[in-house]
Parts: sequence; C-alpha cells; structure tokens
Amino acid sequence: MAIFKIMKIISSEYVKSFTQIRHFDLPVLPAIAFIGRSNVGKSSLINHLLNRKKLVKTSSTPGKTQLLNYFLINQSFYFVDLPGYGFANVPIQVKESWQKVIADFIVRSPELYLTVQLVDARHKPSKEDIAFRKMAVNSNLNSIVVANKIDKVKKSQIQKLSKQIQSVLELNQSPLFHSSLKKIGKEKIWNIISGCLDKN
Ligand code: GTP
Ligand code: MG
Repeated sequence: MAIFKIMKIISSEYVKSFTQIRHFDLPVLPAIAFIGRSNVGKSSLINHLLNRKKLVKTSSTPGKTQLLNYFLINQSFYFVDLPGYGFANVPIQVKESWQKVIADFIVRSPELYLTVQLVDARHKPSKEDIAFRKMAVNSNLNSIVVANKIDKVKKSQIQKLSKQIQSVLELNQSPLFHSSLKKIGKEKIWNIISGCLDKN
C-alpha cells in the first residue's frame, strides 16, 4: 500500500507578485509552480493543497491570474501561481507576452524544483498544453501532469481520457487526477511535492 506524506501546513501566506521573473527579489527558496491553461483550476488547486478557501483568488472568468504570484509555505518554500496560457479572449500581443513571461520563468526561476501542469480531464490536451509539456521536457524540468476537474468526468470515461492525455502529451505514466470541488487527489500531489523537497 502506498504511504502518502501529506505535508503539515503550518503557515501559508501571499508574499509578492512579479510581472516578469527578472524582477524577482525575494529570498531564494525552493519553488513549486502551477501552470496550465486559463480557467483550468490552478488557483483552486493551490487553495485545496493548502486547506485555504481564499488564499488565492479564483474566478469563473478566465484570465484571473495575470502575474507570477508567490506564496510562502511553512516559511521554507514557495508555491508560484502562474498566469494561464491559451486564453482566447485577449489580444494576440497580450497572449504572446504571457507566453514569453512563462518561458522566461522556466529558464530563469531560481530553485524551480517542480512544475505542476494542469490539463482539463475532459478534453484532449490543447496545442498550448503540448507546447508547455515539450518546453518542460526540453528544459529538463521536473514536471508532473494533473488532469483536473475530474468531478466532471463519468467514471466509465476516466480510463479512456487518461490514456488520451498520456499519449498526446507523451507521458511515461498516466496523469494524476484531481478535483478541488470534490476534494479528490490531493494526497498524491502532496506526495510528489514532498518527495521533491526532500530529495533536493
Ligand atoms: P486563471 O487564473 O484564469 O488562469 O484560472 P485558474 O486556472 O487559476 O482557475 P481557477 O482556480 O480560478 O478556477 C476557474 C474556475 O473553475 C472557477 O469557477 C472554479 O470554481 C472552477 N474550478 C476549479 N477547480 C475545479 C474543479 O476541480 N472542479 C470543477 N467542477 N470546477 C473547478
Ligand atoms: Mg488563477
């Protein structure tokens, strides 16, 4: 039986936001970043992992998170909530500048221990999902894929959708499943985060 290490959260607080990683001026600590298309549920996942209802602002309107937002956990590592990629209803220049910000973050972020890439469990991964996965692999990032909003998927469909995500994103194993709404999947994600923090 798997033994899950759920981290005890003693403190979690918002510290600072940056428009670009080159402005980063906080103490350097291990960072875990959350990435995925707009509205996929990144901010909600962070709240769920931290047992907080409103630490990170969420919204049904895509594009809520537009900065690199740093949260300090247990005074010892950061969660970074990244702006969503692939948000359709913004001018192309804005979209491209977000992509640059994210690509730059991947290359320059100090002590980036792990990226948690969220995809929508219901759909075939998008072009942007694939592009980010490739970027993560090519940059030798430690990266996991979480299929989110699993509460919206019928049990009978899970296996098929899991295989589809695995094959489109060329993963070695099936994605993890998660739902903030139904509170599913937190333990496995924490297990990986804790493992990364311990290993480094
Ligand atoms: P941006 O900041 O715009 O990039 O979005 P985000 O990825 O941070 O998404 P956010 O957490 O703000 O959630 C977007 C919407 O999806 C909100 O209306 C959430 O309530 C909803 N949502 C988030 N997680 C889940 C989930 O697990 N299941 C369901 N059904 N809805 C969810
Ligand atoms: Mg957000």
